[in-house]
Formats: sequence, structure tokens, C-alpha cells
Amino acid sequence: MEYCTFNNGVKMPMLGFGTFLNNGSVCEKSVAEAIEEGYRLIDTAEAYGNENEVGNAISNCGVKRDELFIVTKVNFKSYENTTKTVLNSLKNLKTDYLDLVLLHWPFGNYYKAWHKLEKMYHDGYIRSIGISNFDPDRMIDLISFNEIKPVVNQIETHLYCQRAKEHIWENKYGVAHMAYAPLGQGQANSMFSEKSVTELAEKYGKTPAQILLRYNIQNNVAVIPKSVHKERIKENLNVFDFKLTESDMNALKLLDKKSPMIGDPENPSKVEFAMTW
Ligand SMILES: NC(=O)c1ccc[n+]([C@@H]2O[C@H](COP(=O)([O-])OP(=O)(O)OC[C@H]3O[C@@H](n4cnc5c(N)ncnc54)[C@H](OP(=O)(O)O)[C@@H]3O)[C@@H](O)[C@H]2O)c1
Repeated sequence: MEYCTFNNGVKMPMLGFGTFLNNGSVCEKSVAEAIEEGYRLIDTAEAYGNENEVGNAISNCGVKRDELFIVTKVNFKSYENTTKTVLNSLKNLKTDYLDLVLLHWPFGNYYKAWHKLEKMYHDGYIRSIGISNFDPDRMIDLISFNEIKPVVNQIETHLYCQRAKEHIWENKYGVAHMAYAPLGQGQANSMFSEKSVTELAEKYGKTPAQILLRYNIQNNVAVIPKSVHKERIKENLNVFDFKLTESDMNALKLLDKKSPMIGDPENPSKVEFAMTW
């Protein structure tokens, strides 16, 4: 495993397990399998409705709590009740602290929510606080007018949406870049069959998914792929025994379409999308 160190000194694994659209017993089983395979970072959210199942898996996994890195998010509809929401997440996740809590979207009264997270950080409930789906201008605004800087911005990032511009701003402000949908949500999408990707898969004896994940990690972007299939759970973690060369990296860089599926800053429908949660 590789790690990044946040601006507050906390270390986070560069690869974790995503749980969006993974619910009920399937969720509990897949999180348990992920931990058994060696994942230590688990990413969930209030809005996913699966914190209880994630909590069951982590409390029964036999791995010490301080070896795990648990991430959850407060949905923007709960920003008026942030403290209560995080306390509820702690209860569902069956833990007395969280490693990272994110504001899920930059909508509504996110300043108020941030102040509540700052307080819970000082009170020891949360080891680090961050943001998600924040465009650089909103991120800089939040940093400029609050006491605590977010440690991370979790944004959609994959081969077709590499976020080079956002990465530069995050670097400048000391905010780590975390990729959601690092496999493009696996919608049988063409990034798996791009010639450069399949050639690199062949070259390294890896799968296209492993090339896509490795590319992000070597760009200093943490990844949280989701799968409910044990073989894929194993496959997605097995990306630390090879290194792409500079020319491999350049070939993949050329495939950026700057085209997000969800968090499109050019497209206000992301607000409408989030409103449905
Ligand atoms: N902050 C936010 O607003 C936000 C938004 C979206 C997601 N997230 C987080 O980011 C995580 C990852 O994003 P995501 O779940 O949307 O998408 P993703 O991880 O890019 O893709 C998941 C999809 O890819 C498939 N898949 C997984 N491994 C594969 C492999 N090795 N080969 C082929 N297909 C594979 C999965 O299918 P199977 O499950 O059938 O294997 C699933 O359909 C989420 O689970 C969630 O924790 C955050």
C-alpha cells in the first residue's frame, strides 16, 4: 500500500473501497471481503444508506480499529444538523471516531456545516475533515474564510476526466486529491478498451482496471474503486507491484476528455442530480 500525508499530518491509504450503490447484505459481505483482502480505507456516506452495514462489517472484521481508515460524508440536506448527523454516522458505523468526514456537496449552508465539523474535529470525534465535489473557487473560498483547511477534495476523476486543473489548485492549497468513480462507474465504458490502456495491460500483465487505478495513484490521486465481486475486489487492490513509466503516463494523459459524468462544473444539472438524494 502507498499512503499520502494530509496537511494535518494524518496518513491516508492511496487506495480504498467505495460503497456507492452497494446496500444491504451484499454491502456487508463485500466490505468484509475487501477488508479480508487487505483494504483498510472504506468510503461511505450518509446518503448511501449503508453506514449500518459498513459498520457491521468493520466491527466484525477482526482488524484493529486504528488500522482502518473510515470515511463518511454529510449530505447537504443535513447541513443544518451536521453534529447530529455525524453522531448518527458514528453510531451506525459502530466506532467512537471517524478518520475523515467530508461535506458531500458545496450546496446550502456549507459554512455552518464546516464550523460544526471544525468543532467535532477539535472535540476528537473526527481525525480529519474535508470536502467533496467542490470546484476550485469554492474550495479556496472555504479555505480563506475558515479556521481549518480541508485535508482532501473528493471529486470525480478517471481517464476521461483527469482534473489536471483542479489538481494544480488542490496542490497549491495543500488539499489532497481523492478520485471517485476511478473506473468511470464501470458503465461498460470504452476506457477499458482504449488501445493505450489495453497495450499497457498487456505490457505489465495487468488488467485495464488496474492500469486505470495505477495511473491515478502515480498522479498522486487516491482512488476508491467499488465492486461487489470478490475477484474484482482483489484485482483492484493489486496495483502496487508495478510502475508506469513516464512515457506510459504521457500516453494516458492524452486520453483526457475533460468530461465528468456527475460533477460537471459546466453543467448545473449536478445540483438537480444531487437534489434527488
Ligand atoms: N463524493 C461523491 O459525490 C461520490 C460520488 C460517486 C462515488 N463516490 C465514491 O467513490 C466510489 C467509487 O465510485 P463508483 O462506485 O461510483 O464507481 P467506480 O468505482 O468507478 O466503478 C464501480 C463500477 O465498476 C465496476 N467494476 C469494479 N471493478 C471492476 C473491474 N476490475 N473491472 C471491471 N469493472 C469493475 C463495478 O461493478 P461490480 O460492483 O459489479 O463489480 C461497478 O459497476 C463509490 O463507491 C463511492 O464510495 C463518491
